[in-house]
Amino acid sequence: MAERIDGKKIAQEVVTIVKTKTVELLAQKHVKPGLAVVLVGEDAASHTYVSSKARMAEECGFLSVRHKLPADTREEDLVSLIETLNADPAIHGILVQLPLPPHIDSGRIIQLVAPEKDVDGFGFVNVGKLRSGELGSAFLPCTPAGCMLLIERVRGRNLSGLNALVVGRSNIVGKPTANLLLAANCTVTIAHSHTGDLAGFVRNADIVVAATGRPELIKGAWIKPGATVIDVGINRIPAPERGEGKTRLVGDVEYDAAEKIAGAITPVPGGVGPMTIAMLMANTVVSACRAAGLEEPVL
Ligand code: GUN
Repeated sequence: MAERIDGKKIAQEVVTIVKTKTVELLAQKHVKPGLAVVLVGEDAASHTYVSSKARMAEECGFLSVRHKLPADTREEDLVSLIETLNADPAIHGILVQLPLPPHIDSGRIIQLVAPEKDVDGFGFVNVGKLRSGELGSAFLPCTPAGCMLLIERVRGRNLSGLNALVVGRSNIVGKPTANLLLAANCTVTIAHSHTGDLAGFVRNADIVVAATGRPELIKGAWIKPGATVIDVGINRIPAPERGEGKTRLVGDVEYDAAEKIAGAITPVPGGVGPMTIAMLMANTVVSACRAAGLEEPVL
């Protein structure tokens, strides 16, 4: 049976390191890390995510600022807010929750966030640094960075020569995760909805990162014995066996079957999910350390 990778526990360890560094920043540099989270509109899931992020920032001892704007906010007003936050020395991290309402040009807004405050790592400067292997001064996107930490906890820091398969090519997860695995000297394949013989690629992979948003797309029988499986998917599917109208959460991997073959696997929920917020906190405290000239924490 595979080791069940406990994302909650590992995320808590990251948060503990963040809290320690926050105390040190305040004591030595009189600086409190500041995170501004910007939400436009009424999307229920986004409200939940933003509340969790802001609450965790408070728990870490940060200055936590929430900007909740109505769905009909003008793009120019959002631009002004980002410019104000860029110029505010008390703010070290700016996160604009996606998706934005359709009348706002998300691409323009993402690129307006100052690179040194871009704790989501979505702006071109940070994307380019990751792509070029300049990881030391970049902000890495939170979910991919969390996936790497989970993989390293299982496999150790040396992933050199391992076959890594990333299923999914989004800008938020698939592409940055592939770049991180490449920077770690893995042989990386990116599969996506047009890939033929997905099973064949999965069978050859020592590390599988699944980020497709398609419930249980990856069958347990495809997994290479001993492989490390990181499931980023969170899909709600009908569960009539639990009663009429009931649902349950599943990942992009068929967990019960994969667990019998893999070496280690993340559960859904409780795997990658908790890591995303923890890595956002880590990026924010790193940003504050860079601004204050204090050594960055090592995760
Ligand atoms: N919406 C869904 N995931 C994310 C994320 O990681 N960052 C932001 N800003 N918005 C999101």
